[in-house]
Amino acid sequence: MEREMVLVLDFGGQYSQLIARRVRELSVYCEIFPYDISYEEVVEKNPQGIILTGGPASVHVENAPACDHRIFEMNIPVLGICYGMQLLAHALEGVVKGGKHREYGRAQLTVTRDDLLFSGVPQDMQVWMSHGDAVHVLPQGFVQTAATSNCPIAAMCHKDKKLYGVQFHPEVKHTAYGLDILRNFLYEVCGLKGDWKLSDFIAESVADIKAKVGSKKVLCALSGGVDSSVAAVLVHRAVGDQLVCVFVDNGLLRKDEPEQVINTFKGQMHMNLIFADARERFLRRLSGVTEPERKRKIIGEEFIRVFEEEKAKLGDIQYLVQGTIYPDVIESGTHIADTIKSHHNVGGLPEDMDFELLEPLRPLFKDEVRLLGEELGIPSHILWRQPFPGPGLGVRVLEEITEDKLTMLKEADAIVREEISKAGLDREIWQAFAVLPPVRSVGVMGDERTYAHPIIIRAVVSDDAMTAEWARLPYELLDTMSRRIVNEVQGINRVAYDITSKPPGTIEWE
Ligand code: XMP
Repeated sequence: MEREMVLVLDFGGQYSQLIARRVRELSVYCEIFPYDISYEEVVEKNPQGIILTGGPASVHVENAPACDHRIFEMNIPVLGICYGMQLLAHALEGVVKGGKHREYGRAQLTVTRDDLLFSGVPQDMQVWMSHGDAVHVLPQGFVQTAATSNCPIAAMCHKDKKLYGVQFHPEVKHTAYGLDILRNFLYEVCGLKGDWKLSDFIAESVADIKAKVGSKKVLCALSGGVDSSVAAVLVHRAVGDQLVCVFVDNGLLRKDEPEQVINTFKGQMHMNLIFADARERFLRRLSGVTEPERKRKIIGEEFIRVFEEEKAKLGDIQYLVQGTIYPDVIESGTHIADTIKSHHNVGGLPEDMDFELLEPLRPLFKDEVRLLGEELGIPSHILWRQPFPGPGLGVRVLEEITEDKLTMLKEADAIVREEISKAGLDREIWQAFAVLPPVRSVGVMGDERTYAHPIIIRAVVSDDAMTAEWARLPYELLDTMSRRIVNEVQGINRVAYDITSKPPGTIEWE
């Protein structure tokens, strides 16, 4: 049976991924494509509905982003959101104009006509607006279905052609009945039933992986990070001990992390895990190195060496598991290539490795990966782990790395994370950690003068690490961290809190 599918055409709006996630929350599988996807490709994809996202442009600018207009004649339901609605109107010879007022933020919407899109929602409701242009004259055959005080045509439809437009954003939480409106589009207008279930995804993936891999061997560089962990467990479910995971301890991991990874994957999940203790050789290679990018390069190279040595011991291996997820592969509507992160995944394995890739999480968003992980029985301390850079504590011991400094940093870092957890802030904070700078300051403890290192606490809130705000942690919490660090970690006599956002700072210090 073919799975139901909706296409989201991305015009570069800030909420494009959110639209796709909402559609999936409503149990309909969808994929995001750049707005200029060819007509032939759309035909081939055979979607049951198409959503046009918002975007920063105006339909009147030169080379304004537009999809192939034949898409509107395919008899496939279309929902244009914000710019998507304006494009629909403009393409079908309605009139779009710059409004007198830019409308940004909450607005009160009144439904003016019985319409499938608004079925079961109140006639008056709060919606979220973010636009300059608006539709002023409806295209032929369309009717207005809702209005706000600033925007008389806040929604429109051509019922027979199943073409719909909304000027507001149903995908954001500030639109009170947004999810209902999207549900109406999918279920009432497109006539979908909602057949996207993560449990089916597991069964299908397991069958696919089994068929693909047969009796061959699969390798995975397991870091304990969310994506590689879920990918490995899914593949393990399909091929059992044909999967060998290599876990490299480079000495730059957080306190107790190696033990946790081994206990979880070997102990609880019964996976075939090779533990490579490479602490000494990493430290040796990093000795005397102070420049951050040089450190990164050494750590990356050494990782590959260790991994290749372990691989050589294993004989013939055909497949490599990678935890690539959907946001890593989406090409955005504005064609900004740098949405594909360079330091994604484990250690940056070289591209010329002689493997075929298994990337079972490619269609999934991060929150779906976590849900999948839960279904697969992966403990929550792994699924909700904060992002941790590949070079690990190597970029948090500033300048030269020594074993003593690493020990101090690990202890301090463990305290920071423990207190964040105790305060119930794990899921609100993007990352919280400690940094050890190469300076010392004078202090006094008991009757003695000290001359020791400070620890810098860094805690940020963020959605995607591209920008971040320093976290407004309660003073009491900072106080507890500070006291504990100074009392419990030998060699530390002072604690500072980093109150720089990104930009202009970065999240890490190196
Ligand atoms: P910055 O410091 O650039 O970090 O604001 C953004 C996010 O990326 C992580 N990060 C790294 N991850 N290898 C990685 O795998 C790296 O070299 C690296 N540097 C930074 C950082 O922890 C944050 O989540």
